[in-house]
Amino acid sequence: MTPPTMTEAPPSDAPTAGATPALSVRNLTTRFHTQDGTVHAVNGVSFDLSDGEVLGVVGESGSGKSVTMMSLLRLIPSPPGDIAAGEAVFGGEDLLAMDLDDLRAVRGGKVGFIFQDPMTSLNPVVTVGRQIVESLEVHDPGSKKAMWARALELLQLVGIPAAEDRLRCYPHELSGGMRQRVMIAIALACNPQVLVADEPTTALDVTIQAQILELVKELRSKLGMAVIWITHDLGVVAGLVDRVLVMYGGQIVEDAPVAELYAQPRHPYAHGLLASLPSANSRGTRLVNILGQPPDLRSEPDSCSFAPRCPHAFDRCHSENPVLTDVGGRSVACWLDDGRGLGAEGADWGEPVGGASAEGEDA
Ligand SMILES: Nc1ncnc2c1ncn2[C@@H]1O[C@H](COP(=O)(O)OP(=O)(O)OP(=O)(O)O)[C@@H](O)[C@H]1O
Ligand SMILES: [Mg+2]
Repeated sequence: MTPPTMTEAPPSDAPTAGATPALSVRNLTTRFHTQDGTVHAVNGVSFDLSDGEVLGVVGESGSGKSVTMMSLLRLIPSPPGDIAAGEAVFGGEDLLAMDLDDLRAVRGGKVGFIFQDPMTSLNPVVTVGRQIVESLEVHDPGSKKAMWARALELLQLVGIPAAEDRLRCYPHELSGGMRQRVMIAIALACNPQVLVADEPTTALDVTIQAQILELVKELRSKLGMAVIWITHDLGVVAGLVDRVLVMYGGQIVEDAPVAELYAQPRHPYAHGLLASLPSANSRGTRLVNILGQPPDLRSEPDSCSFAPRCPHAFDRCHSENPVLTDVGGRSVACWLDDGRGLGAEGADWGEPVGGASAEGEDA
């Protein structure tokens, strides 16, 4: 196909007009130095999160979703992990440069974190009540009585029945859904300004997932916190979030308001992901597999990482890495997107990228 001409637009890491974002991430770059070489897991990620905004993060397995969010709180194992560049400004301070003691006060305090697997994140030999109190002791200490009362209140807040009895339970005595609620209670213990949730409902059955999502929506309106929600479930994205970051090969390839992304994805990878969705509101719809191999992260991207799988790629895609560029209310990293190419109104996308098929539960 004939390559459209790229018009210049300001790069998306230009300062955002208006209110100061709750979190502002610029050029985040994380690598793992392994025996097999350097894994370029996160490559120049930039995004803003506004107060009270719910941001969804999607992308296939290995695209760098977890490493991005863990890097922000410097939670990646080092070695082999290495945050090679970037800044993450939160409350006027750069989380990546601040003193470790100060950062510990942010982690689990102003920024709550729910990890992918509650069984590995909860301490199996400490009661759930004690674990909530321990978090309060670090971040929001009070009298013993007040902290236990707060722990009870939190378990009630996350909808745990017979909460008073559950305070004394060990994690293995609770169901998966209840453990996940405990994780949320711990993350909420200190009234975080930002809650980062990494696939918090993947291991749960659909009914419990729906309850947890309702709970987070409720808490968001009650507490006014911003949420970053990593998920493979496009139904969750449609029903919960305001804006979506689509990640591929450790980079953001599209950053768009959710309704606009669903109505018209502009990056060919985003289009491939959404092409097989029966409807934007369908719960439990998984990401699709796109034919071809994920990128080899052992070399630094010097061309579009998606180009080998993209039927629309042309010469430039194979020789130059497109930067995330503002294209009218959203950002896209694609050489085709100049307002007249594939991203244009009424553009003919043809068949879904590579032919999409449903992805398994374990993806
Ligand atoms: N400790 C580590 N050592 C080496 N490489 C790692 C390590 N942790 C993550 N990686 C690599 O970093 C890349 C990004 O991983 P990440 O866990 O962020 O993916 P993800 O998008 O969260 O995937 P998933 O959807 O499966 O959770 C992957 O290639 C992964 O193999
Ligand atoms: Mg992950």
